[in-house]
Amino acid sequence: MQPGQDPQFIKNLFGSIAGTYDRANDAITFGMAHLWRGELVSWSSARIDSKILDCATGTGDLAFAFRRKVGREGSVVGIDFCPEMIELSQKKNSERGENIEFAVGDALKLNFSEALFDVTSIAYGIRNVADVSAALREMARVTRVGGEVMILETGEIANATLRAGVGFYFKNLVPRLGGWISGRRDAYEYLQKSSGAFPSGEKFCAVLMATGAFASAEYKSLMGGASYIYRAVVK
Ligand SMILES: C[S@@+](CC[C@H](N)C(=O)[O-])C[C@H]1O[C@@H](n2cnc3c(N)ncnc32)[C@H](O)[C@@H]1O
Repeated sequence: MQPGQDPQFIKNLFGSIAGTYDRANDAITFGMAHLWRGELVSWSSARIDSKILDCATGTGDLAFAFRRKVGREGSVVGIDFCPEMIELSQKKNSERGENIEFAVGDALKLNFSEALFDVTSIAYGIRNVADVSAALREMARVTRVGGEVMILETGEIANATLRAGVGFYFKNLVPRLGGWISGRRDAYEYLQKSSGAFPSGEKFCAVLMATGAFASAEYKSLMGGASYIYRAVVK
């Protein structure tokens, strides 16, 4: 895929909504995003003692879901290029008495050596990176051969009636709801637009395979395509 969005714009956008991100996300998805992150963890091969890297971790919810799976024997690292998000993830980490390592970092230039992790993940982040294919290759680089890159992202809803209903909700109500909670309606308008334009299902599997970094790529659609989980095995 071609390089897209301006990273500074994305960083500022998430910085401006970080403080209310969890509340808005729960309201917009009716708490479903938590279930879907759990589904990603279950579908991955993560087990007790696995080493996990969660990219674009935001306030860290996918990293916390992995922590429950890998236990204290495993290790979980979460990175995000938005310092306001990392501050919140670190606060949650200490409040919960967890020992996840959260740090500021860019998914396009990961500060880790090759093949360090068993599973590398990204939830609702891949469509926001400036160069999707470069980020996928970088995530594969730090993952061991036979390990997985796991992705959760919004997508296209297959059923036309459901698509119209959910489309109406996201186009008309989500920016109001997000704006009402965060005071930044423009941010939620942008996020909903970028979601509609992003490839999903077979199309995104083709993007994964075109990187040349994966032996296989498969997907699961959730709630008829409201979100998709991808599992790509590193070659
Ligand atoms: C919609 S939030 C998702 C947060 C979290 N993963 C979740 O499931 O709620 C997208 C996140 O991607 C981060 N992000 C976007 N581009 C990034 C990049 N190149 N490197 C690291 N983080 C990035 C943003 O700062 C933001 O926190």
